[in-house]
Amino acid sequence: MEKLIIEGGVKLEGEVRISGAKNAALPLIAATLLAPGEHVLKNVPDLRDTRTMLKLLENLGVRSERNGDVLKIDSTDLESGEAPYDLVKTMRASVLVLGPLLARLGRARVSLPGGCAIGARPINYHINGLELLGVTCDLEGGYVDATIDGRMKGNTIYFDLPSVTGTENLLMAAVQAEGTTVIKNAAREPEVGNLVDMLNGMGARIEGRDTDRLTIHGVENLNPANCAIIPDRIETGTYLIAIAATGGEGVVTHCNPSHLPSLLEKLRATGLRIEETESTITVRQPNGSATPGPLKGTDITTSPYPGYPTDLQAQFMALMTLASGISAVHETIFENRFMHVAELQRLGAKIKVDGHTAVVDGCSMNGLNGARVMATDLRASSSLVIAGLAASGRTEISRIYHLERGYEGLVDKLTALGARVWKEQE
Ligand code: EPZ
Repeated sequence: MEKLIIEGGVKLEGEVRISGAKNAALPLIAATLLAPGEHVLKNVPDLRDTRTMLKLLENLGVRSERNGDVLKIDSTDLESGEAPYDLVKTMRASVLVLGPLLARLGRARVSLPGGCAIGARPINYHINGLELLGVTCDLEGGYVDATIDGRMKGNTIYFDLPSVTGTENLLMAAVQAEGTTVIKNAAREPEVGNLVDMLNGMGARIEGRDTDRLTIHGVENLNPANCAIIPDRIETGTYLIAIAATGGEGVVTHCNPSHLPSLLEKLRATGLRIEETESTITVRQPNGSATPGPLKGTDITTSPYPGYPTDLQAQFMALMTLASGISAVHETIFENRFMHVAELQRLGAKIKVDGHTAVVDGCSMNGLNGARVMATDLRASSSLVIAGLAASGRTEISRIYHLERGYEGLVDKLTALGARVWKEQE
């Protein structure tokens, strides 16, 4: 296994280009199963998770070829409807093939994803929604065996919590159902909007994009897609926070500032100066002087879009360990998303966890010291990178396969910003 070595204490400066969104690429790749023919997806990030999804599609008889950030997927020869445990257990988003397989083949056998570091991650909303569309779902041996005779029937579906992949799975299932389906309390994340645009471009009739109520009028046929993946808002936020944490200044390009309403306000609340254009965000230190003053401690509470994203909770916590004063971080989405706290404490961070709240006692800009730490999940590992970049001395992060799931070209992008970072064998 590889580890990441960081010689911290260097201000990050310059420009970083954002890749396509992992959490849009995964549902959009799955959606190519809906229609035979050659689909073209642009701005697709090359990540461990996108490679896993393409391997899953290959298992189903679907071929794909990548040319730079353009992916061509031909799903004409889709032959089987099984997503095996050894693939699904590595990536929960594999469950996104359930809806399209049922719509295309009328059957699907998908392994239950099982839990992960951040929580139990159930898929009961996905199953209940499919059953409301007329699908029979048998859960046995750790698999979902789902079948439907003929077309699904439109119905009204209500989510207790606005599940992102739950909304995406049921959108893909319902686009060719007979009649109309309404999803209430639907997720409003931009990645859901990206999927709605792709499906409507294929001939679907979906109304209510970006709202919590999606209306899907079933259609008979869909054509292959030709569309682009939106920029990764979580990668965007991660680099903004990394630049800020090192006392540097920089520009994030090829991003979409309108997808980060709450993060940008929270960064401004710390005293950072944030400027936006159509596709760039510039971050500068509070007082603009060479020696940056400490940031102000700022509270965050995660909530569904457009609230503060849970996927940027760990990164912001790392930033707050360097601020002056106390910050409270409330995690309301997942039951176990503080795995990064113990590792940040090894770097000298002062954090106390009480249930779903972590209280951070900031220790100003030079309060962290390099140490050996361990990545536990994708976003926790990016918070350790941020802390390591800001800490004085050397930080070694093990199990960095977590990072490679969601950050394309991380070492190259950080190096281009001036970071001293490289990989070594464990
Ligand atoms: C998506 O996961 C993202 N993954 C996650 O990003 C993100 O953290 C999460 O949404 C919340 O924004 C992808 O898009 C591939 P949920 P998802 O269903 O859809 C409960 C990352 O780091 N729930 O919105 O799996 C669930 O337990 C990943 O990129 C049920 O109870 O999350 C949670 O408390 C991590 N039953 C809440 O809803 C269900 O059937 C929100 O989960 C489904 C969800």
